[in-house]
Amino acid sequence: MDLKDKVILITGASSGIGKAVALALSHGHNRIVITARRKELLSDVAETIQKNGSEALAINGDALDAEQAASIVQQAVLRFGHIDIALLNIGAGPSLSISTASPGDIKQNMRVNYDTMINFFCPLVQQMKAQDSGGIIANTNSLAGFLGLPTQGQYSAAKAACRIFLDTARIELKQYNIRVLTICPGFVITERNKQPGIPASFTMSLDEAARHILKALKSESKEYLFPTRLKLAIMLPRFLPRFATESILSQFLRS
Ligand SMILES: NC(=O)c1ccc[n+]([C@@H]2O[C@H](COP(=O)([O-])OP(=O)(O)OC[C@H]3O[C@@H](n4cnc5c(N)ncnc54)[C@H](OP(=O)(O)O)[C@@H]3O)[C@@H](O)[C@H]2O)c1
Repeated sequence: MDLKDKVILITGASSGIGKAVALALSHGHNRIVITARRKELLSDVAETIQKNGSEALAINGDALDAEQAASIVQQAVLRFGHIDIALLNIGAGPSLSISTASPGDIKQNMRVNYDTMINFFCPLVQQMKAQDSGGIIANTNSLAGFLGLPTQGQYSAAKAACRIFLDTARIELKQYNIRVLTICPGFVITERNKQPGIPASFTMSLDEAARHILKALKSESKEYLFPTRLKLAIMLPRFLPRFATESILSQFLRS
């Protein structure tokens, strides 16, 4: 889909990748609805979007609350009439050691990555089903969702759950012209996440990540994995015996 003159909802747009994508899209005369909890950061993003020539609607809310998420979709439609594209981007992957984690620690990460996506996904489907042109629902997933990474078990599991759900949704929603995209970045350097110890050749700037995400939205790639080098490194263990994969991944614990 051409990324000009569109109504675009981005969740988790107060910082990091969501903010970078919102600003990259703001040069295309779009109408951009941004949401997250931190109101002031969201207002700053909205101001920049408007300076860059797009319209902005900032709505703060907690995506863990399904009613708030549904209301944000409703407010976006009230203001702009429809939604062409939604990027469901909320998520986090803090390190967690399974040897000391509580059930709550592990399940909270499923809530932050999976529940927040589902809380927006369902009202968006109802909205886009009613639109002649359907729409695009994309998720900022992760390459971490393809492997059980040490210290990231809860995150890898949550992103894998999102990806598998989206695989089914893509098939079921095709009849309504709703296109479901899974976008899987590797390591992106954000304010919250400075990534010490990760080889520089594997990390990406926010601008680079945003460029890839715009490319994925434009081309409507069903599953878009980037950057290529890390994508290949993540895919390789699928063809190795399990003991070899575990030996390679164990290096993460020693670094
Ligand atoms: N950075 C990476 O290396 C990387 C790699 C692959 C995938 N990803 C994925 O990219 C996405 C964005 O991550 P990021 O690195 O850009 O992190 P980030 O800067 O922490 O962004 C997360 C966004 O989600 C919002 N958010 C969190 N919980 C929320 C809630 N309950 N309700 C509403 N908004 C909420 C945050 O805003 P508030 O705190 O203001 O609510 C923030 O805007 C995530 O899904 C992450 O898993 C990141």
